Amino acid sequence: MPSLATPTFEQHATGLGIGTPSPRLSWRFILSDADSDNDWMQTSYDLEVQRDGTSVENYHVDSTDSVLVPWPSTPLQSRERASVRVRAHGNKSVTEWSAWTAVECGLLNRSDWSAVPITSEKPIPSPDVEAALRPLRFRKVFTVSGNSVARLYITGLGVYRAFLNGTRVGDHEMAPGWTSYRHRLNYETFDVGPLLKDGENVLAVEVAEGWYAGRLAFHGGFRRIYGPDIGVMAQVEVTSSDGRTTVATDSAWQCSPSATVRAEIYDGEVYDLREETAWTTSADGKWEGVRMLDLPKADLVSPNAPPVRVTQTVKPIKRITTPAGKTILDFGQNLVGRLRVNLAPLATLASGTRVVFTHAEVLEHGELGIRPLRAAKCQDTLIVDGKIAIKEWYPNYTFHGFRFVEVQGFPEASLLNSVVADVIHTDMLRTGHFTCSHSKVNQLHENTLWSMRGNFLSIPTDCPQRDERLGWTGDIQVFCNSASFLYNTAGMLSDWLLDLKAEQLLDTDDGVPPVVVPDVLQTLWPHAPLAVWDDVTVLTPWDLYRSYGDAGFLERQYDSMVAWVDRGVPRGSDGLWVSTLQQLGDWLDPAAPPDKPQEARTSGTLVADAYLIRVTEVLAQASAVLGKTEEAARYTADAHRIKTAFQNKYITPAGLLVSDSQTGLALALVFDLFPSAATRAAGAARLINLVRAARFCVATGFAGTPLITHALTRAGQPQMAYRMLLETSRPSWIYPILMGATTIWERWDSMLPDGSINPGEMTSFNHYSLGSVVSWLHGSVAGVRCLEVGWRTFAVSPIPGGTLTSAEASYETAYGRIESKWAITEGDSFVLDILVPANTRALVILPHERSGATEGQDGKIPEGQGRWVGSGRHHYESRWSNLTDWPPAPLPGLFDMFHPEGNSKDTIA
Ligand code: BGC
Repeated sequence: MPSLATPTFEQHATGLGIGTPSPRLSWRFILSDADSDNDWMQTSYDLEVQRDGTSVENYHVDSTDSVLVPWPSTPLQSRERASVRVRAHGNKSVTEWSAWTAVECGLLNRSDWSAVPITSEKPIPSPDVEAALRPLRFRKVFTVSGNSVARLYITGLGVYRAFLNGTRVGDHEMAPGWTSYRHRLNYETFDVGPLLKDGENVLAVEVAEGWYAGRLAFHGGFRRIYGPDIGVMAQVEVTSSDGRTTVATDSAWQCSPSATVRAEIYDGEVYDLREETAWTTSADGKWEGVRMLDLPKADLVSPNAPPVRVTQTVKPIKRITTPAGKTILDFGQNLVGRLRVNLAPLATLASGTRVVFTHAEVLEHGELGIRPLRAAKCQDTLIVDGKIAIKEWYPNYTFHGFRFVEVQGFPEASLLNSVVADVIHTDMLRTGHFTCSHSKVNQLHENTLWSMRGNFLSIPTDCPQRDERLGWTGDIQVFCNSASFLYNTAGMLSDWLLDLKAEQLLDTDDGVPPVVVPDVLQTLWPHAPLAVWDDVTVLTPWDLYRSYGDAGFLERQYDSMVAWVDRGVPRGSDGLWVSTLQQLGDWLDPAAPPDKPQEARTSGTLVADAYLIRVTEVLAQASAVLGKTEEAARYTADAHRIKTAFQNKYITPAGLLVSDSQTGLALALVFDLFPSAATRAAGAARLINLVRAARFCVATGFAGTPLITHALTRAGQPQMAYRMLLETSRPSWIYPILMGATTIWERWDSMLPDGSINPGEMTSFNHYSLGSVVSWLHGSVAGVRCLEVGWRTFAVSPIPGGTLTSAEASYETAYGRIESKWAITEGDSFVLDILVPANTRALVILPHERSGATEGQDGKIPEGQGRWVGSGRHHYESRWSNLTDWPPAPLPGLFDMFHPEGNSKDTIA
């Protein structure tokens, strides 16, 4: 009999401060080893709801649903708390009751706020950089007696940290995160009961510019984008038997400049120890009055996204003295976060001495490679006091993308043992794992994971180090499926989509979303429709819906999806994109010149049109899910019409494509654009030829990379995909690994073989998009693929190949854990062990059961293959004979004699 994990609410991490009065509930099933092969399916469930001061409400619901079931009781009010537990009845048994779990609403109405934002009486510039605002400190002393429950509701115009009686409130970093502040401003809810004292209390808050007022964007960027003043808005509510006491930010608070004299996301922080006081507990320092600001016009929202936190600490692996005599720490891993420094060794330095830490991702010819950082200094400075009042220091309001840190002014002997790196990112639940018998493929997967961690910091960004770190829509559009396997992205990405929708629908009326969300590019990027990037409006809500089974994503985004397809896409008379528009298209095709990444082999308009068909089909399906039958019929007909137009425009009767490229053909195969089985077969054959002619090197950019291995698999040639995966020469997925990469690079060759950084001015070493190949590792190599939305049914259909002798993946679905583990044993058997969660079913297909194409026309598993199984552990063994089609040969070329590497077998990892 399965047991139940603690129920969860909506896509919220904890249930505390939730912004939904009727939060939907989900429960996961945990199978013990004794549950093997028990095919457990839910038939109904019991819910008990205990609201404050009332008796327990009991509900029995006949339903097989265990994910996002409706709130059974009347809606909760602001601040109202309820405890819930659940028990599931199944076809074989009834589970035990889950543990009780609490849900508590945040402040649902603007009128719940008595606080107003406060700032200093006058703007305080940083002594370090005139244009930057110096971080501010605020404090308020208040008295409470006989408290029982206490909550802090807080947000910042900037990024903040709060302290109650000297203790840090919570562990959120860069709070309240980055949203489209003009439309949506997150507030956070903390249980501060344990920090309150009977009697006098001190609430202290520090605020820095963050994304609100700091410099953002490239080419110099912009400052104070969201407003001229940084500040805080907070209220502590203490509820006891006598009623509720509220202490809110108002004119009675005090303000002082911070000892952190500058804090900028791109440039880093300057902390002056000489100015530090015991400000969180005492009135030390120069305190002045505050100025009250208007309540923000933006909606005050309680995020579903988990907060940013420190998730890991990494020690440096070595100290290097460079050829130029500089001191550098190597952390062994390109990561995103900040240093934490033990201050004890600085006690002997003269007051006013500056210790400087400069961060970078790579070394170039032995020295810190800072050119890719462009106009981001990535430098933190500590000004020493001559006495040490605090034990350790770390910057609080910045983050850097780095593996290497050049250190100036720190006593050398103790350096290695005095500095660590704290990794920070949105603290999502890790859900997916993959490993296999090939160490380089494992490293590729690991690098993708690190690039996801580094770029999921409040919003999904392009890169974490240079003067960008922006929510480029195309990047997450191509990576969403890979990301949603690795971590639970539901809260974070669905919140971000609300920003996208707000900026698309409220800031303009042309239906076109901004190319970065939140939109900060202003004059740098005139608003223009762009396929692949803007297609995020439709494809990302759909991908999230598929991963998490939450139709609410589609419901909330529907207007945004429709606006893009109906009004945003500029069309010619054939319904396809107008062809005179510049597209980013297959951005970063490896053949594009370093300074012209949009000049790809594949026509940008063809890429846009292929995507438009896919987007229209998805919108038709989303309409159907939402019961909008008329719209579903209209978009289905539209998709059919433009697909015919595409075929007439781009595909010859023999199945050749106008853009005769890996990306063009991959799009046509995966988006199912060929008019007949014969042309499809011809297209597949042509793609194979191109891949063999390229000697298995990658020839795809942003648009083609997520698809190429899937396309080869659908063409019935998974060994070609394995061969590309394992290619080592440039451009390939393995080349960066041979160059020592620990993250996914922006360019296939961000680092050139001679150790110099690619001359392109846009060269990051931490961009996740080219890592989107991991979705093929999960879905085809380990063989775990979602069939029915939310993984209610799924396929386990591993495709062994290449030189791999084993692979395994696991994935925590909303129902429970999936496992798939295969190995080819010495006795020539293929062995597969799987775990299927309760209340789900899996379609298991063993390799020898496949025939021809491994996926059908539309990516679905062809009927009649394999067997359906229910929950529990299952074990399969079949005979295995070595692959006859490995390794595939390159196409013999006219100029083979000039290729000193000769047979491409030599370049297989
Ligand atoms: C970003 C990309 C982005 C692109 C679009 C770059 O600077 O880093 O990842 O999608 O611009 O132009």
